[in-house]
Amino acid sequence: MNRLDWCSRAGGPLRGSLRIPGDKSVSHRALMLAAIAEGDSRIRGFLEGEDTRATAAVLAQLGVRVETPAVGERVVHGVGLHGLRGSPQELDCGNAGTGMRLLTGLLAGQTFDSILVGDASLSKRPMRRVTEPLAQMGAHIDSREGLPPLHVHGGKALHGIRYELPVASAQVKSALLLAGLYAAGDTEIIEPHPTRDYTERMLAAFGWPITFSPGRARLAGGYALRATDVDVPADFSSAAFFLVAASIVPGSELRLPAVGLNPRRTGLLQALRLMGADIVVEHPRESGGEPVGDLLVRHAPLHGIDLPEALVPDMIDEFPVLFIAAAVASGRTRVCGAAELRVKESDRITTMAAGLRMLGTAIEETPDGAVIQGGAIGAGTVESLTDHRIAMSFAVAGLVATGPVRINDCRHVATSFPGFPELANGCGFALQVAD
Ligand code: S3P
Repeated sequence: MNRLDWCSRAGGPLRGSLRIPGDKSVSHRALMLAAIAEGDSRIRGFLEGEDTRATAAVLAQLGVRVETPAVGERVVHGVGLHGLRGSPQELDCGNAGTGMRLLTGLLAGQTFDSILVGDASLSKRPMRRVTEPLAQMGAHIDSREGLPPLHVHGGKALHGIRYELPVASAQVKSALLLAGLYAAGDTEIIEPHPTRDYTERMLAAFGWPITFSPGRARLAGGYALRATDVDVPADFSSAAFFLVAASIVPGSELRLPAVGLNPRRTGLLQALRLMGADIVVEHPRESGGEPVGDLLVRHAPLHGIDLPEALVPDMIDEFPVLFIAAAVASGRTRVCGAAELRVKESDRITTMAAGLRMLGTAIEETPDGAVIQGGAIGAGTVESLTDHRIAMSFAVAGLVATGPVRINDCRHVATSFPGFPELANGCGFALQVAD
C-alpha cells in the first residue's frame, strides 16, 4: 500500500449536516451472525471500511455468499450454525482487531482448522486475552507467543465456562459468546466495567436465548440463529472527530444525523460536556434495537478536567481526539485508568504524546494516561504510525493550529472512515494530501 501523508490547515467555521458512515462494531457483528444464521439477512448502513470488508471477505472464504446490492448494503446468505467450510488459505483480517478476535471465537468451535493473519499493526496486538479463555473452553489455538498469526484447530469439543474478564473488553466478551454458541452448557461472562453490548443485543435479535445486563452476559450452546435484517447506525467513534472539531473552531455549527448512542459508546459526549461543550441530542429514538439521535454541536470554549475514570471504557476509542480537545482547552486535563490505549492500533498514549509535543503542547505521559496542559497548538509534523484515529485526530488539530500540521502515514483512515477527507473538507476543513 502506498504511503499517504496529509496536511491540515486552519479552516472553518464548520457548518452543515454530515452523514457519518456506519458503525464498525455493529457491521462486523452483523456480518458474522448473519453468516451463521439460517436464511438471508440484509444489512443496511453497513460500513464500507477496510476492516469490515476484510471480515466479509473472510466469511466468503468460509463459504458464505455475501452480496453487495448497493454501497452500504450487504445481503448475507446464512449457512446455519454448522454450515461454514474450512479454507486452505490464510484468513486475512487486515488491520481489524475486532475482526480477528471475534472470528477466533467463532472459529474455535468449528470442525476445520483456520489460520488468521493480519497486517503489521494487528500482528503486534495481544491475542492471549482471547486464546487463554478459549483454551479453558476446550479450544486449541496456536499463536506466535500471544501474537498473530493464530492457528485455530478444529474438531475440539467446547464447553461453557464462567469467566471474569481481567480487563474490560467487548472484543474478548464477544469472542467467548460466539464460542459459547458451539459449547456444551452455559457460557457466562462477567466484566470489570460494562462494555458495548452489541453482540448480546444482536444475538437476541437473531433469536438466540441470552440473558444480559450491564457487566454480565450468559448463554447456552445448541440453539439456532434466525436471519434478521440489521440497520446499522452511524458510528459514534467517527462522529467524535466532528464533535471535537466543531467544539474548538469558533462559529461552528454541525448536525450529525442518526448517530448510534449506545450508552457504552458515548463517554466522550459526557467528557466534552464536562469540558464545557455545547452538544445537544435531538430526536432521540430507537433504530434496530439501538438508541440513536441527531447530534447538534456548536462551538464553545472548553476547559480542562480530571476525566472521571468510570467514563474510560465508554470512550475507549475516542482518546486521541479527546487529547486534541484537551490540548486546546484552557487549563489542565488529567486522564488515568486508560492503560488499554497502549494496545490499540498503536500505543495511543505514546503516539498522541509524541505528536502533541511536536506541535508545542505540554503533555506528560503516565503508565495509564496523560496530563495535558491546554493552550495554543502550533505547526509541525506528526506521525500517525498508520493508526487511523490518530491521523484523523491530528487533522482536527490542524483546524486550530497556528500553522500547517503535516500528518504522516494516513492510509489506514479508510479502515474505519472511508471518505473522511471529502466529508471534512465539505464542512470547512482544509485537509489536503501532502507532497
Ligand atoms: C470493539 C471493542 C473495543 C474497541 C474496538 C471495537 C468491539 O476494543 O476499542 O475499536 O467492536 O468490540 P476492546 O475490546 O479491545 O476494548
